[in-house]
Amino acid sequence: MIQKVIKCGSNAYINIVKGGVLDVKVDAIVNAANNTLLGGGGVDGAIHRAAGPGLLSECRTLGGCETGDAKATGAYDISFAKAIIHTVGPVYSGSDEDAHLLASCYTNSLDRALERGFESVAFPCISTGVYGYPLGDAAKVAMKAVKDWLAAHEDAVINVYICCFREEELEAYLKLENGQ
Ligand code: AR6
Repeated sequence: MIQKVIKCGSNAYINIVKGGVLDVKVDAIVNAANNTLLGGGGVDGAIHRAAGPGLLSECRTLGGCETGDAKATGAYDISFAKAIIHTVGPVYSGSDEDAHLLASCYTNSLDRALERGFESVAFPCISTGVYGYPLGDAAKVAMKAVKDWLAAHEDAVINVYICCFREEELEAYLKLENGQ
């Protein structure tokens, strides 16, 4: 399942995984949500189905989420996880703002994880499904954002899992990291 491990500093690792965010046993699962935080399709739908109705009830209290921001909730019926971190990626538009907002999704989600002392976080490939962000570009932005965040938080003991649900997502990450 783990296809590549990248050591970052002395306490952190980035793991490139073939599989979905619900397939890795982590403290925090990141959800690629929408501004309402009230559920949707793709990974959002899968997480809500797995977590059960308690998740939607808590999400209703959050007042939505700005694009690029991240908010944490309980994980409810996903018993192995301690939290879901909901973030909202940009709908791809081709503007310079897209990359900035996408990077913020990764860094704000890691901030939420660090605040709670979590040591493992699973990310989906945010914005690359329904929201149409080109995979190669999104992978570049995501890896830079995570690596820069880890470099800025050298003391954080953290395992980051980048979950490639689709084969082409894995290809994009391996191409980026292996120069394949
Ligand atoms: N299980 C695990 N991962 C999945 C699944 C699944 N069932 N389905 C997709 N992914 P996407 P976005 C992966 O489209 O582009 C929702 O309706 C997918 O391969 O879920 O950010 C929200 O409510 C990719 O790695 O999210 C928003 O309206 C990642 O999940 C909108 O879609 C993100 O693809 C967000 O669009």
